[in-house]
Amino acid sequence: MSSLANEAAYDLWAEDYPPLPHNALMRAEQAAMLALMPDVTGRRALDLACGSGRYGLLLQERGARFVVGCDLSAGMLARAPLAHRVRADMSRLPFAAASFDLVVSGLAVGHAPSLDAWMAEAARVLAGGASLVYSDFHPDATRAGMTRSFTDADGQRHELLHALHDPKAHLAAAWRAGLVLEARREVRVGQELCETFTGSESFYARWHGLAVVLVLRLFKP
Ligand SMILES: C[S@@+](CC[C@H](N)C(=O)[O-])C[C@H]1O[C@@H](n2cnc3c(N)ncnc32)[C@H](O)[C@@H]1O
Repeated sequence: MSSLANEAAYDLWAEDYPPLPHNALMRAEQAAMLALMPDVTGRRALDLACGSGRYGLLLQERGARFVVGCDLSAGMLARAPLAHRVRADMSRLPFAAASFDLVVSGLAVGHAPSLDAWMAEAARVLAGGASLVYSDFHPDATRAGMTRSFTDADGQRHELLHALHDPKAHLAAAWRAGLVLEARREVRVGQELCETFTGSESFYARWHGLAVVLVLRLFKP
């Protein structure tokens, strides 16, 4: 197992990271995110830590006025089929305050060393009356022993570093950033995550009921 820094690891993973949900967990996470997505028609949207542009593309298809994809990995950004792509750290964004009517972020906040810094930046670039919709790997999954890893083209496995943020920590950081909880969902094994895949029988038997993803929609008054 390698211990590459996340940026280098994601550059490597980018080759094999299409802009669509490419496993059962991502499909369940995306369904939960879309269930909380406000109407995006005519909005200025930011896909924060966009990877290869999965959510940015969905926002474009749903009629956003423009979509900016932002990520630290040049390899990921190169794959993202978005008109506006910016390489930046998600906790230090190069955008003016109130630049966006919607900020969306899929499965990335766990890579921010400080949840407060991440939340404050997302809140700063949101316009008043706008929402932040995002997902995180659930800390219960990490505590139960699930890891975030991938295998590269040469067969080498890489584990990604990420912080555990409890739901209470998300809500406290949101409150400090001036954001208000609008809606919350969890993806649980055997419930929202229930599709059949190779090895799914033992997967569901082992992890049944475990929360694997947290999804929040926060509002900036
Ligand atoms: C699990 S991927 C999710 C990608 C995309 N949001 C999706 O849901 O398909 C996490 C992404 O976060 C990005 N990332 C990690 N740390 C970052 C940082 N400090 N600033 C910006 N992007 C970061 C990675 O490069 C990677 O593209």
